[in-house]
Amino acid sequence: MSGTSAVGSITVTLDGSDNSAKLPLIPGSIGPQVADIRKLYDNLGVFTYDPGFGNTASCESKITYIDGDHGLLLHRGYPIEQLAEKSSFLEVAYLLLRGELPNAKEKIEFELGVLRHNMVHEQLRSFYNGFRRDAHPMAVICGVVGAMSAFYPDSVDINNPEVRRISAFRLIAKLPTIAAWAYKYSIGQPFMYPRNDLGYAENFLYMMGAVPPEPYQHNEVLSQAMDRILILHADHEQNASTSTVRLAGSTGANPFACVAAGIASLWGPAHGGANEAVLKMLAEIGHVSNIKGFIEKVKDKNSNVRLMGFGHRVYKNYDPRAKIMEKTCHEVLDVLGIKGDPLLDLAMELENIALNDEYFVQRKLYPNVDFYSGIILKAMGFPTSMFTVLFAVARTVGWVSQWKEQVEDSSQRIGRPRQIYTGAKQRDYVPLSERG
Ligand code: ACO
Repeated sequence: MSGTSAVGSITVTLDGSDNSAKLPLIPGSIGPQVADIRKLYDNLGVFTYDPGFGNTASCESKITYIDGDHGLLLHRGYPIEQLAEKSSFLEVAYLLLRGELPNAKEKIEFELGVLRHNMVHEQLRSFYNGFRRDAHPMAVICGVVGAMSAFYPDSVDINNPEVRRISAFRLIAKLPTIAAWAYKYSIGQPFMYPRNDLGYAENFLYMMGAVPPEPYQHNEVLSQAMDRILILHADHEQNASTSTVRLAGSTGANPFACVAAGIASLWGPAHGGANEAVLKMLAEIGHVSNIKGFIEKVKDKNSNVRLMGFGHRVYKNYDPRAKIMEKTCHEVLDVLGIKGDPLLDLAMELENIALNDEYFVQRKLYPNVDFYSGIILKAMGFPTSMFTVLFAVARTVGWVSQWKEQVEDSSQRIGRPRQIYTGAKQRDYVPLSERG
């Protein structure tokens, strides 16, 4: 990579001893400096402890920057608000992967490259029949994406730039097809093949919603809203699923295996599964009159109930994506003629109460991207089980970009965290006859 050099150091001293170590301070282009602890164990014989990695930079990256205190999200330096308003998902994909916005020729070539790869191997179709019809579509896409390396054995040659280029196209292009087929399989409808006369988001909506006997009713506003939702989910620096992809990638695993690992990690309700959980929560609350009681439950530490769609590990301010999502939500409901949607009313009232409640204010808990995305997707006709799948379709771009950056970074090593061991000390094996 760029070979960042230290601009200073901090000195740490072990309490009660003269042993100290100088930790070089490495600057980023923006954001806090980072203390380089790589030699800490060699110099002082101690590890660092940071469960959840809240204070640990696991890599150097040029892709995405988040300033959680100010609600700022930049992709390659461009604010998410500008990209959501002026760009398209495939243009953002190009930006994330290649580092710059494409010129007109590069944009067309990239879009054609994605189109060229949007069909999946016909034999992969039969994989779907192995799943129960009621399987969660995240389980299905995790399995199907993991199986892709069996169809592209060349993908294991990750040090070949051409293999990396084609694998990126394959993943970005095929994910909508794989995801839409998971949905079609669950409802017993025929799989719809991708159409190259449609844009990326439009094609996804087509494969989800079209049926062979009827002409497909295209809706430009909904396609644009879908494109924007994809942009908003495209990348988010070293979150749980991206770190999972990088950790898998650090072993030299092929990109399909790494992305399948990312999908598994995204599925959890604390991460990508939150959009599904928001809708379940709203349904559970049921009516505005029940909000007060629900908020009390959330504040009760013994209840284990969280306000889903609220809070973020990094944002201690409004998630900028949530603001755009809220605006998109109103546009979509308008186009669909949904007036006074009870779920939206409930969500807005909940947001209003939570933003003024001391518990949430003190802990800097604001709505995150998932708070509104579920309502939009529901209005568009997506079943709740597909919400996280859609997130995976979009995030594939980020995962692939981060994976590619990692493979091209010569300073990266296999990911291998340490631990504080608190188990039994060394002891001798006791024969079964002598155990009490
Ligand atoms: N509802 C109620 N209380 C919360 C919530 C919430 N949603 N989130 C955090 N808190 C509280 C915690 O109980 C804790 O309180 P305490 O200090 O009294 O113990 C405090 O706020 C800090 O919470 P942590 O769990 O330390 O925050 P962390 O950064 O580990 O968690 C997370 C972030 C997982 C996103 C959390 O806020 C959460 O569970 N939110 C709900 C799920 C959600 O919406 N996830 C989507 C995240 S965005 C994404 O992945 C796209």
